[in-house]
Amino acid sequence: MTAKKRHGSGYDVHAAAQFWSRRLQSVEPLSAVLTYNVPPPLNQAYDTWERKTLQALLPSGMKNRKALDIGCGVGRIAVSLAKAGAYVTAVDISADMLATCRNNASKGKVLKRMRFVQSSAHQISFPNEKFDIITCFGLLEHLPARQRTACMNKALGVMTARGKLFVVVNNKKCIFLKNHYTTTAQKPDGYYVSMVGLDWLELFCKRKNVRYTVKAANPFYAIAHYYIFSHFKGCSISEQELKSICSQAVKLDLQCPLNEKMTEQLSSHYIVEIRK
Ligand SMILES: C[S@@+](CC[C@H](N)C(=O)[O-])C[C@H]1O[C@@H](n2cnc3c(N)ncnc32)[C@H](O)[C@@H]1O
Repeated sequence: MTAKKRHGSGYDVHAAAQFWSRRLQSVEPLSAVLTYNVPPPLNQAYDTWERKTLQALLPSGMKNRKALDIGCGVGRIAVSLAKAGAYVTAVDISADMLATCRNNASKGKVLKRMRFVQSSAHQISFPNEKFDIITCFGLLEHLPARQRTACMNKALGVMTARGKLFVVVNNKKCIFLKNHYTTTAQKPDGYYVSMVGLDWLELFCKRKNVRYTVKAANPFYAIAHYYIFSHFKGCSISEQELKSICSQAVKLDLQCPLNEKMTEQLSSHYIVEIRK
């Protein structure tokens, strides 16, 4: 990985890598890559929603297809893709995230199908290689605009003609995300977060002339997370109750991936498929 100090755009790759490694050392793995410091049932349910939704969207016959997971974290998605039969390249900026991803690949008995690359998403380079499936979950919001565009350009550049790129973005219209935390620039500790919604993605896809389809949203989960959990936080809701509410919510979201009436104001996340 090229550890470049704050260049023109003010994004310090090294600081970002350090930040994510520290985060992983400070909390349990799902909390490090999903919502920070919330009770485990919330992240477990969100994880189930994303992985099951992706599974349903993947082409049948993943065996021996080539997949690329950008910003792989601890390997939730990368390891699932390998378990589905793909050869997976897992990319992350943080050495610790990659080490944990490797460990999870080993536990899942798919180490032979995976390789691990430490790089910033906007600098990935796979000369003469193309991928059938590319995933980029939970990453775009952590890249400043210039690096975000570069990351997406790189992803399209290494995608096969009939390939699919799956991206997760936030829903800016979600009533629960009104107080969503956003940094104006990368913080001195390396953290950067902004709200990246469908508007940004749609504009990017229009400019690149690629097809863009919203495939799934999570209104029931968002109600469980942002309303029920926040409302009862510190009061009367037990972890067991939260677990039961969250798994019911995810069941409903999975039964109805795009619930037109509820999606726009309530969902916190969208899963989008991009094709050339
Ligand atoms: C919110 S986590 C999501 C991880 C994983 N995609 C998932 O959904 O479980 C963000 C991940 O992106 C990685 N990351 C942050 N900035 C990055 C960058 N510039 N290039 C590559 N990876 C980056 C972090 O190390 C972290 O693993």
